[in-house]
Amino acid sequence: MKRIGILTAGGDTPALNATIHGAVERANQLNMEVFGFIKGYNSLYNERLPHVHLNPLFQEIPELDPAKGGTILGSSRDYVDPNDKAALDEIEGRLDSLGIEGLICIGGDGTLNGLQPLADRLPVVLAPKTIDNDLGLNYRSEPDDYIRRERHDKTGFDYRMKPSRTEFHLDHMINYVTPGYATAVLVSVQGIQRIRTTAESHRRIAIIEVMGRHSGYIALGSAYGQPDIVLVPESPLNLDLLVEQIKEIYDLQKNVVIVCGEGIVDESGNDLADELNSTDPSGNKLLTGASEALRQLLVERMGDDYFRSYRRGHSAQEAIFTRKVGHTQRGGRPVLFDRFYGAQLGAKATDILVERRSNVISTIQWNSERGFWVDSFSANGFRDRWGLIHARKMHPSFYDASRLRPSAVGRDYLKPIFANALGQDDLEHQRLTTFSPYNLMMPYHSINTDINKRIRYVS
Ligand code: F6P
Repeated sequence: MKRIGILTAGGDTPALNATIHGAVERANQLNMEVFGFIKGYNSLYNERLPHVHLNPLFQEIPELDPAKGGTILGSSRDYVDPNDKAALDEIEGRLDSLGIEGLICIGGDGTLNGLQPLADRLPVVLAPKTIDNDLGLNYRSEPDDYIRRERHDKTGFDYRMKPSRTEFHLDHMINYVTPGYATAVLVSVQGIQRIRTTAESHRRIAIIEVMGRHSGYIALGSAYGQPDIVLVPESPLNLDLLVEQIKEIYDLQKNVVIVCGEGIVDESGNDLADELNSTDPSGNKLLTGASEALRQLLVERMGDDYFRSYRRGHSAQEAIFTRKVGHTQRGGRPVLFDRFYGAQLGAKATDILVERRSNVISTIQWNSERGFWVDSFSANGFRDRWGLIHARKMHPSFYDASRLRPSAVGRDYLKPIFANALGQDDLEHQRLTTFSPYNLMMPYHSINTDINKRIRYVS
């Protein structure tokens, strides 16, 4: 192959530039040109096919900094419709006219779905990314454990997992972790630690909402911040147990910190968050307000008298507060783990393309004997029998639903990822740059300004 394309799709993560960097560096070694497409799949639908040559003379452009969050190529949640043959023909023609012989898509489950129709036309490989850590399998046959039921109103199907016959073991997970997750957890942990001391001072109950959609990995990892209670979407809310535990902890220490995943569900399995009842272009539900909904439940259940009797404020409304860690989880400098494995996955994706394999994912594998390594896996292996790719949920064994905390297996899952996730340079970078007088003098210089100068079009 002489020339390949690369794009970043879906919600961004801090590790995208590192992944592009890995792909480009490997291409440099192989004397292959890499063209980056602007704003994910959106670019492919644009008849001018906006793109950037990422390695003129087989040297990476200086704007591509693996330690910088976001993506120099931009991203969007645009979706590739497998049934729109005319549009797919046009995309194929455009890529052909630019001499693109293979494509790397950096993305999550939505991107993987979009990649499928393109993969029949040229070699396409997915390099995984998502802060949610929901691209992967708990065990090889997990997609076979999905069952579906048609909705009463005949508008489609609902999918759920039947209890599995497969024994779970950490060593057998497919794509153990995705780049972006470790940085998102770091940000959540720091948020929790900061909220804790203010909750302690003011005798308050803090509910901290973290991202992750319906997968509880970020909430699980947030346990490093030592919250008192962790609520994950995989375990339906047990309000009686929760209130009992809150009171026990509050009686003892006069403050409680609760972390909740944004996708937590009630006992009937309904999202606690107000659902806007809308979806993004790849079909993902938009979630909002789980922590606020939980707060209202606690305010009603605990009542003002509880707090007044302790002389700790005038009302439950005052004592219980919520904070979302929000998009700070997705932004900023990636930690060492994400930079390193993002780059490895990018390089592996280039290698897979060179082998002319299509519809394949580069993966991060782990087992207790070898530690981490990169590998590949067929995208088809992620599909259920109806062809759908489901976001990976945290395995039930990771959570102790009676203690409302990660279980021993959950803690064992986290340890290899976070043992050396932070590099010394991560801390040194913060020390050197945060309060630089330069920041006070100079306006922010956006990478987009420089990349704009490099964008080329096919016509
Ligand atoms: O999938 C990544 C993610 O950050 C989720 O955790 C979150 O629910 C969603 O994206 C937020 O999407 P947006 O940035 O479009 O609001």
